[in-house]
Amino acid sequence: MSGPNTDYDPVEVTPLKPEEVDSARDAALAAIAGATTLEELKQVRSEHAGDRSPLALANREIGALPPQARKEAGQRVGQARGAVNQALSTRQAELEAEHEARILVEEAVDVTLPTDRIPAGARHPLTTGAELIADIFVAMGWEVAEGPVIESEWLNFDALNLGPDHPARTMQDTFWTEPADAHVVLRTHTSPVQARTMLTRTPPIYVVCPGRVFRTDEYDATHSPMFHQVEGLAIDEGISMAHLKGTLDHFAAQMFGDGITTRFRPSYFPFTEPSAEVDLVCFVCRGVDPESCRTCRGEGWIEWGGCGIVNPRVLRACGVDSERYSGFAFGMGIDRTLMFRHGLEDLRTLFEGDVRFTTAFGSEL
Ligand code: PHE
Repeated sequence: MSGPNTDYDPVEVTPLKPEEVDSARDAALAAIAGATTLEELKQVRSEHAGDRSPLALANREIGALPPQARKEAGQRVGQARGAVNQALSTRQAELEAEHEARILVEEAVDVTLPTDRIPAGARHPLTTGAELIADIFVAMGWEVAEGPVIESEWLNFDALNLGPDHPARTMQDTFWTEPADAHVVLRTHTSPVQARTMLTRTPPIYVVCPGRVFRTDEYDATHSPMFHQVEGLAIDEGISMAHLKGTLDHFAAQMFGDGITTRFRPSYFPFTEPSAEVDLVCFVCRGVDPESCRTCRGEGWIEWGGCGIVNPRVLRACGVDSERYSGFAFGMGIDRTLMFRHGLEDLRTLFEGDVRFTTAFGSEL
């Protein structure tokens, strides 16, 4: 009688046949070797090593084998899968390396190429210089005031006690607009902003007024028919020459560094009484060894501007009670100040708009 057929060995499970396993492995290895991109390799991985790949399906069949056949089939499939996985990770590493190498080449930047053919500009030193000056005064609680460059004759001259016969009014100094009987000029100084401020505000007044001014000067290394001034005006009770001196010493130290002070020389302006010329300690030689100094040319001092106590006639012309209030005013050339500060030899470099000049000072504070 027949008993259980213990010899039955269904090794005929097709996917597990050695030649099937070998050909599945070889197909996988060939596909891996043929993958030329990481994308392709991903596809190959899912086809030849994914859950539905021939070798994964073969692996699943092992459980169905009789115990004595499992070991051999398991080894065969296991080795084939091992070889495929090994090949996959080797190829993966190769393709990643190739990818990186290609990116390094493709995305390489030639740092020696010219960058931008349109060079970036920079703020003009006159703009930043005027702002620096304004900031020094704003930090002391002053305000910035501005006025028009086309100004009435009255505000430019009469209100400031420059009588009709004052030589500055002549054709040699002033640009007059036409028709002449309109009495309109290009302002010759920033002082009309003093008058405008006093006419529109009530004291106390502390204003600083930077701006363009015009005079019929030749255009050369030290003159220009258009230049810049900054005017200061303080009107309050009890203002004296001492306040003026202290303010200008502070201004000079902020602009040129600690220890740079000012001195006053008696002078005359119709709108101030008393009046003074302001000189600055030469910030190059500091007055110590002026003989060999090219900046102050042996003086130890540099002329900076004009100043004085506001003439009571100007206060009255502008509606300020001259019994109660007094004030000081000063005015200096911004261009001149920047020439000292940056060691410029020629005033014209400030006006010619050459970006090589502007950018050199563009980041300067
Ligand atoms: N306005 C004068 C000038 O242009 C300078 C100045 C201003 C003098 C204020 C005294 C007071 O030369």
